[in-house]
Amino acid sequence: MSLLDGKRLLITGALTKDSIAFHAAELALNEGAEVILTSFGRAMRLTERAVKRLPQPVKVLELDVQKPEDFEALTASLKDEWGGVDGALHAIAFAPEDALGGKFMTAPVASAQTAFHVSAVSLRDLAVAVAPLMEDGGAIVGLDFDATVAWPIYDWMGVAKAALESTSRYLARDLGPSKVRVNLVSAGPLGTVAANSIPGFNQLADSWREQAPLGWDTSDPSSVAGTIAFLMSDLASAITGQVIKVDGGFSAIGAPVA
Ligand SMILES: NC(=O)c1ccc[n+]([C@@H]2O[C@H](COP(=O)([O-])OP(=O)(O)OC[C@H]3O[C@@H](n4cnc5c(N)ncnc54)[C@H](O)[C@@H]3O)[C@@H](O)[C@H]2O)c1
Repeated sequence: MSLLDGKRLLITGALTKDSIAFHAAELALNEGAEVILTSFGRAMRLTERAVKRLPQPVKVLELDVQKPEDFEALTASLKDEWGGVDGALHAIAFAPEDALGGKFMTAPVASAQTAFHVSAVSLRDLAVAVAPLMEDGGAIVGLDFDATVAWPIYDWMGVAKAALESTSRYLARDLGPSKVRVNLVSAGPLGTVAANSIPGFNQLADSWREQAPLGWDTSDPSSVAGTIAFLMSDLASAITGQVIKVDGGFSAIGAPVA
């Protein structure tokens, strides 16, 4: 018996083979789950290429979280395909260039709003699309970068992550009675397309290497994928509204140990 036997999981955000979502999908398939991915627009081509590296063929549906009609179509497609859904991974974030990389004080309001919509409100919208299909309960997992503190360069993406953390708690409140759990995995820095598009990302990666007591490999998302699989599984049946840090212990230490 495998961890995710019989689970039907929707996984968003697999752009390349480096994406956290790609590793989550790979592990889920190896643990017995059925998986459907989403991608959107021009990114679809990259996703279709990455999918070929997965251990078995999976469908890729269109989902641009800025298009309400895509959420409606997603619910209908999942209903047709599976009848129900057991879990959904939200692995989506975006902030315009002028809202990142040290531009906190000058970012246009519209750019902050885009970061908020795509990276935080979309968790609510995904939950609205999938929760009605979770008739026997389910698990929704999102991906966070610790928003309890301010970081260099992260700027309005950091504010959007604070909103994501709060959104997950409100969803846990409203969906708990339907036995739908909502949790976030707060990951250390990983070298994905999203991370590499943040100017100065290496600064964060370097501080992790210095401070995390377990060490940290920015090219290895397997520990993050493992925690996602755990949260999707029945082993996590009493966990909701939580942010679980998978960061090599970085956040437990106040400053690098000489
Ligand atoms: N890489 C890191 O260091 C790190 C650390 C902590 C948390 N995270 C979070 O992990 C999640 C996944 O990011 P990743 O690092 O794997 O990078 P990634 O670039 O592989 O994935 C980001 C995904 O967001 C999708 N996306 C952007 N705008 C979208 C939209 N309008 N509609 C639908 N999808 C959209 C992209 O297509 C892409 O698939 C994000 O929430 C990110 O903030 C990443």
